[in-house]
Amino acid sequence: MELIQGLIKNLLLLIGVLFLLIISLLIGSIYFDEIWQPISEEEIVEWDPNIVVLNNPTASSEVKKGFLILDSTSNFIGPLNRNNEFKYAGNNLSCTNCHLNGGTLSGAASWIGIYKRFPQFSGRENKSGSLVERINGCMERSMNGKALPEESVQMRYILAYMKWLDYGLPKLNSKNFKGYPKIEFPSVAVNLEKGKSIYLKECVVCHGENGQGVMYQNEKKGYQYPPLWGSDSYNDGAGMNRVLTAAAFIKNNMPYQQATWENPKLTDREAFHVAGYINSFPRPQKINKEYDYPDKKLKPMSTPYGPWKDNFSPKQHKYGPYPQIYKFYEEKYGIKKTK
Ligand code: HEC
Ligand code: HEC
Repeated sequence: MELIQGLIKNLLLLIGVLFLLIISLLIGSIYFDEIWQPISEEEIVEWDPNIVVLNNPTASSEVKKGFLILDSTSNFIGPLNRNNEFKYAGNNLSCTNCHLNGGTLSGAASWIGIYKRFPQFSGRENKSGSLVERINGCMERSMNGKALPEESVQMRYILAYMKWLDYGLPKLNSKNFKGYPKIEFPSVAVNLEKGKSIYLKECVVCHGENGQGVMYQNEKKGYQYPPLWGSDSYNDGAGMNRVLTAAAFIKNNMPYQQATWENPKLTDREAFHVAGYINSFPRPQKINKEYDYPDKKLKPMSTPYGPWKDNFSPKQHKYGPYPQIYKFYEEKYGIKKTK
């Protein structure tokens, strides 16, 4: 009798344990599925940051904070931060106003693959530079501010986000993501009248007649339509202030949500004229620009400020035509300029 009772007890115990095991496996697998449901390529391309980043369980809180700093830059490290200690950016742009869709959009100087691409040679500094230094290049020029210290928590969060882009998202073709697809530079100089008429037709609805853009209703988010010139725009030492760089960005990305890399709306020439037009207006001045590109022959030919290693006029550097300058560097130094 006792033996049977003992057996039944053991059997019940066994069934109980098995039952618990099955239940926990079931719950586990549902939970696991939820966590590891990878974000699809389409979801990245459609870009809802709530889906791709903020509610994505593979993104740590550091990654999410990094994204928020890059996407509402002024609020966290710029003029909108009430604490003077944290005003590193000098304008109210967000990094993602130029690095679209959280830095994931191809043809908009995407950050996908960026973590692995650095350290990298920089002509502007004439030495190998780190990712932190590259980010600070944009802080001092595109954001018209000062360098964010390497050891700051904000920089740590930014790097965490960029690193996560590399392993937390499905591998898109990262070769296609680097920089901007180049435009063929026209044989003519920028025509500001043409630039103006393209601007009035294709850009003015969002960026405004005076190029000053529009802030979000919730100001903390910065600009919905960023300014293209004037005191709150990128400074004159920024890459976007070179007509060939701006034209490449514009051709592949503007008018916003109408143009893509695969399907641009403007021709190379139209993008070139309108890029010259937006860069013909005053903007903040970067100091010490004359020290950029210590090896002057490496300076991009559309850099609008001197000194240069040639005798072309400042006006020709700013507005073209570029074929003669291109030919000069190719023949004299064997350098094929792309911008
Ligand atoms: C439908 C609205 C819209 C139109 C039209 C439009 N843009 Fe934009 N533009 C934007 C938005 C929005 C951003 C920022 C994107 C973001 O934050 O995701 C932007 C960003 C930019 C930037 C980079 C940010 C900066 O402040 O420098 C430039 C340059 C630019 N646009 C130029 C142009 C030009 C030139 C045209 C006309 C050919 C144009 N845009 C047409 C909405 C527009
Ligand atoms: C006004 C536009 C603009 C803004 C705002 C901006 N950038 Fe950039 N950024 C550029 C341009 C232009 C390049 C050079 C792209 C090229 O020519 O390949 C660049 C390049 C970079 C690169 C190197 C990309 C590569 O593939 O090597 C990094 C990293 C970067 N930016 C980070 C940032 C960060 C972080 C911020 C905000 C603190 C920021 N940028 C704000 C325009 C901008």
